[in-house]
Amino acid sequence: MQNFAFCTIFVFSCLIIGLNARKNVLFLVSDDMRPELTSFYGPDFPSPIHPPMHSPNLDRLASSSLLLKHAYVQQAVCSPSRTSLLTGRRPDTTHVYDLVKYFRKVGGNFTTIPQFFKMNGYKSIGMGKIFHPGVASAFDDPISWTQAYYHAPNLGYWDAKEKSWIAVPEDQWKKRPLPDAQIADRAISTLKSVAEDAKSGKQNFFVAVGFHKPHLPFVFPESMLVNYPESAIALPDNAYAPDGMPPVAWSNYEELLSYKDIAALHATGKINSSLPNSVVLDLRRAYYSALSWTDFQLGRVLDELESLGLANNTIVSFWGDHGWQLGEHGEWCKHTNFEIATHAPMMIRIPGLTDNGVVTEQLTEYVDLFPTLVEAAELGLKLDLCPEDSKNIQLCTEGESLIPLIKEPTKPWKSAAFSQYPRDGSRIMGYTIRTRDYRYTEWAEFSGPPKYKPNWDNLVGRELYNHDHTSPDILEENKNLVFDPKYQTIVKTLSKQLRAGWRNALPPSS
Ligand SMILES: *[C@@H]1O[C@H](CO)[C@@H](O)[C@H](O)[C@H]1NC(C)=O
Ligand SMILES: *[C@@H]1O[C@H](CO)[C@@H](O)[C@H](O)[C@H]1NC(C)=O
Ligand SMILES: *[C@@H]1O[C@H](CO)[C@@H](O)[C@H](O)[C@H]1NC(C)=O
Repeated sequence: MQNFAFCTIFVFSCLIIGLNARKNVLFLVSDDMRPELTSFYGPDFPSPIHPPMHSPNLDRLASSSLLLKHAYVQQAVCSPSRTSLLTGRRPDTTHVYDLVKYFRKVGGNFTTIPQFFKMNGYKSIGMGKIFHPGVASAFDDPISWTQAYYHAPNLGYWDAKEKSWIAVPEDQWKKRPLPDAQIADRAISTLKSVAEDAKSGKQNFFVAVGFHKPHLPFVFPESMLVNYPESAIALPDNAYAPDGMPPVAWSNYEELLSYKDIAALHATGKINSSLPNSVVLDLRRAYYSALSWTDFQLGRVLDELESLGLANNTIVSFWGDHGWQLGEHGEWCKHTNFEIATHAPMMIRIPGLTDNGVVTEQLTEYVDLFPTLVEAAELGLKLDLCPEDSKNIQLCTEGESLIPLIKEPTKPWKSAAFSQYPRDGSRIMGYTIRTRDYRYTEWAEFSGPPKYKPNWDNLVGRELYNHDHTSPDILEENKNLVFDPKYQTIVKTLSKQLRAGWRNALPPSS
């Protein structure tokens, strides 16, 4: 609107201002990164047993971003989480609960974030892991991009199933670069190639860069280990399943067991079984090192954005696709509804709006990124909230733009963040909400296509965990309080809130 008013007065200037007002987007993604970053430290997070993360680049980005300290994924596994974020719709709308189904086949022909920018005249370029690769995205959803998609040539070589982690000596990675280095190289050359047109206002860009680490196998240059001396690595202090946890909540972490070095330990992945302490320590150290490696590569891309003079007209978003269990609860990988799997890192830098850094503790969801980017890019467009049945609507959102939180980070916001996880081939669905003080979960019988609905009358498990950091019962989700007489009023309220669904938890103003 402001641009328009300006245009009517100064017809000539409006062309320049109008074009430059649209911001470019650098869309950065990491795989399996939990929010174990210095910038996330607070009264209730993270646990003091982790060494300080070496993530200077993410910390720098966070310091000039809207930092979403309580952002939750909609399902804690790759394709469902990414599909949900990229379409701005939840798993019960995309109908993607696994690593195989493609949303355009089972959900609807929904407009994705990159596709949206492409349709609005942006050059939309993708590389690395953005969509889940392969059939789950019909090979990176070609319609989303203006040019051929790029994958790191060395990906297969380094992702063999022999070892769960490898600290690669310098002579080896020099000979055969690690995939995330190849992706960062590609991002840098891509930014160089789009810089001139972006700066002259001829064409904006949407560049998506998806790093593979710290996903298993934890492969990183050996030099990353110096950030984490062995003496700094500790065992989790809760290497056991929550007291009173319903078995349905558990995942046998088959993904980790599929690596030959772990399989050789004859681990079962069963509740309260465990891996040898030395293996747990090694895996934790390797995970941290892989995280620092991603941070390093991401820093190279951010530096290039800066040195090309693009930083002040480019939105930078960063997110990891879900959290990760590093032996807490004796659990590994994601695939659960625990806080540690559903809580993930997200930050959004918008030049002119977040330059001095804004931190919000409000509950936000991954579906919120799409409407936020649309508003932040200053295209003069706003996404509508999807109706109950949106399968035939290409463009709408089940999220909420986060821009109001920049001006007022403590503004009353969502009363709950929603996630879900299927079990037993999606015959059971675990629905969970995180409110400010609690996590509450119900595992219900679920009917798949064509209904995609839970049957609340047939529950196979319920969980309540206290997250009020002033309460003595906080306990890192170590005790399921759902049957505790003291909590019955809260259980009733939360059950109602969970079943009422996300539409009833939107910010009061929307
Ligand atoms: C999906 O929508 C796009 C436009 O957003 C259109 O080009 C394409 O043909 C549609 N595909 C199907 C299968 O309807
Ligand atoms: C697992 O171990 C914890 C801690 O000892 C205990 O409270 C819990 O009941 C155990 N769970 C099962 C299913 O054995
Ligand atoms: C953005 O940065 C470039 C290069 O550093 C500079 O020429 C330009 O004036 C800046 N634009 C704004 C709006 O600050």
